[in-house]
Amino acid sequence: MLILVLGRGKTGSLVAQVARERGHGVRALDVTENQHASALTAPNLAGVDVVIDFTAPEAAQENMRAVLSLGARIVVGTTGWYAHLDEMKALADKRGGALLYGTNFSIGVQKLFRLTAELAQLDGYTFSIAETHHESKLDAPSGTAITLQQIVEAARPQANLGAKVEIASYRVGDAKGEHIVTATGPDDILELRHNALSRRGFALGAVRAAEWLAGKSGAWDFRAIFDQL
Ligand SMILES: NC(=O)c1ccc[n+]([C@@H]2O[C@H](COP(=O)([O-])OP(=O)(O)OC[C@H]3O[C@@H](n4cnc5c(N)ncnc54)[C@H](O)[C@@H]3O)[C@@H](O)[C@H]2O)c1
Repeated sequence: MLILVLGRGKTGSLVAQVARERGHGVRALDVTENQHASALTAPNLAGVDVVIDFTAPEAAQENMRAVLSLGARIVVGTTGWYAHLDEMKALADKRGGALLYGTNFSIGVQKLFRLTAELAQLDGYTFSIAETHHESKLDAPSGTAITLQQIVEAARPQANLGAKVEIASYRVGDAKGEHIVTATGPDDILELRHNALSRRGFALGAVRAAEWLAGKSGAWDFRAIFDQL
């Protein structure tokens, strides 16, 4: 497979490395070579099976619009753009492209999502979420924390009565990403905690997602397909 990686930052550079280790051809572009998606033309995408984006919220939107308009396929790891999700899904549908997006490509975090849905069934507890990431992260709360919040609220429509589950966000050094879901009851406290030790888990999940997406058209959340990998 030929994979075009957008973003040679902390995560994108690992994605390129993991894709090469898995035997794929890899091209990688950073912002200077792809200002406002300028490199995402039909000739440049010819022969590319899947594009993978780990850039920034604004850039990812421009990249998705360009790739999906050409009927091509893109895995989007970048977070913080989901207000435009419906627009991107419609574009994929209209042009026969493919979009696979996810707030977290770590398989361990996907398990945390499932366990959180189970924990949220507990009666008589209040729920809160804490997330810690590196100091240069652009969006807060993290996309993963927002997903956890949505999972808890969806499982407890009566308990929340429209009130949001609180998220506390911390930005510390080079933290790779920690999420803690806390259920506090009158007599005890339960916690689910995921702490990423490196970014490699995200990179591997994104490359495996790209392998899954090859040859498909449509739009998927990584949460819906990760157990098919
Ligand atoms: N979904 C996940 O599992 C997951 C995991 C890690 C990070 N992320 C997200 O991925 C994004 C990137 O994170 P990071 O830590 O690697 O950031 P980073 O700042 O280290 O890297 C981003 C890179 O993208 C480049 N870039 C910006 N605009 C570009 C463009 N138009 N074309 C090509 N490259 C461009 C920047 O120059 C930079 O090198 C963030 O939104 C982060 O939240 C998601």
